[in-house]
Amino acid sequence: MPQVAKGLEGVVAGTTALSLVDGRGGRLIYCGYDINDLARNSTFEEVCYLLWYGRLPNRSELAALTDELAGMRALPPVLLKVLQDLPGTAHPLEVLRTIISPMLSYDRNPGDGSRDANLRRAKHLTALTSTIVAAAHRIRRGKQPVTPRADLNHAANFLFMLHGTEPDPLSRKAQDAYYVMLAEHGYNASTFTARVIASTLSDMYSAICGAVGALKGPLHGGAAQWTMEMLLAIGSLDKVDSYIRELFRQGKKVPGFGHRIYKVEDPRARILRVLSQQVAEKTGGVIWNEMSQRVDGLVAQLRGTKEIYPNVDFYSASMLYNLGIPTDLMTSVFACSRVAGWTAHVIEQQSDNRLIRPESAYTGPTDLAYIPLSER
Ligand code: COA
Repeated sequence: MPQVAKGLEGVVAGTTALSLVDGRGGRLIYCGYDINDLARNSTFEEVCYLLWYGRLPNRSELAALTDELAGMRALPPVLLKVLQDLPGTAHPLEVLRTIISPMLSYDRNPGDGSRDANLRRAKHLTALTSTIVAAAHRIRRGKQPVTPRADLNHAANFLFMLHGTEPDPLSRKAQDAYYVMLAEHGYNASTFTARVIASTLSDMYSAICGAVGALKGPLHGGAAQWTMEMLLAIGSLDKVDSYIRELFRQGKKVPGFGHRIYKVEDPRARILRVLSQQVAEKTGGVIWNEMSQRVDGLVAQLRGTKEIYPNVDFYSASMLYNLGIPTDLMTSVFACSRVAGWTAHVIEQQSDNRLIRPESAYTGPTDLAYIPLSER
């Protein structure tokens, strides 16, 4: 029996110049730049440029990309029709996957797999994902989609399309920093899915559909929703203690904690802890931040020798909730950001491609005698 790395733990499956996830040092670096610097100083548009072109843009390059993305935000009528025809009960992430699915059929040159064609698709997908998510949410609530505004940046325009009102400066900054911090993260499950699909020389849209599917699960992008559902179930600060102790007693997981790579605190969690508190103080939803801090403190007491620290989804949950994003929309909002990283990885994979095809260790029998159907 060959050695098997269950869940591919510890396996280095390839190279990337897009990000370094330093699990022991607690660092996240995009193309050379520390996430703390990017979250504080850059915008999502700037990070998109960094991921797609490998360097920070100058002023005119950033302005050009910002205009290009803003010009691609409107949902084509044919895709809006697909969206409107889906049942209102559909999960927003399923809606997103479904709307991306036929996009190759409407691509102006579907057979072109060049870097330029894929860059155009990366921009279109990134521009459109926020529009699809906001529209899907409004339609299921019986409201009209809000037409995107080209004069707002990507993050502010998303909140505008979701709520129909222009966001205040703190909400804009928080949403933008969130988009910056979730854009890229090495060979995480959804990105790896995208790379596997890209490695077969399939198309960009297929890769992104697969990535959306992988993101949905609670062990990956679904963890913010799971976290917020836990906070809502706990309901008040005085019940946090008994709830979390009971989870530990039963050997159950606390959502928003633990990570395959980070064995110290996720650097994004540290930034989000502060942002979540600022947003809470501004919007009045202080309770969710206070409960999160209490959970955080308790897990630190109860974890023993296990390396379980808050991950990116933990403080995202209360922050997004206080920005008016409902629990079952949180994973879709994650996708609005990560689509930039997914598309960058598809381009990187195809720039130096080799089919991703690991081996498996067979555990079944090998010597069964075939019994004809009539005798079974
Ligand atoms: N709460 C309590 N215990 C946890 C935990 C959590 N959130 N995450 C991991 N652990 C414990 C496990 O129970 C396991 O304990 P054991 O050795 O006694 O069995 C140990 O830590 C290792 O966990 P494991 O699930 O094997 O690690 P992994 O690398 O496969 O998993 C995650 C990583 C992210 C899937 C896991 O930490 C998790 O499920 N977290 C909650 C979901 C989440 O927040 N996902 C978002 C990730 S960004």
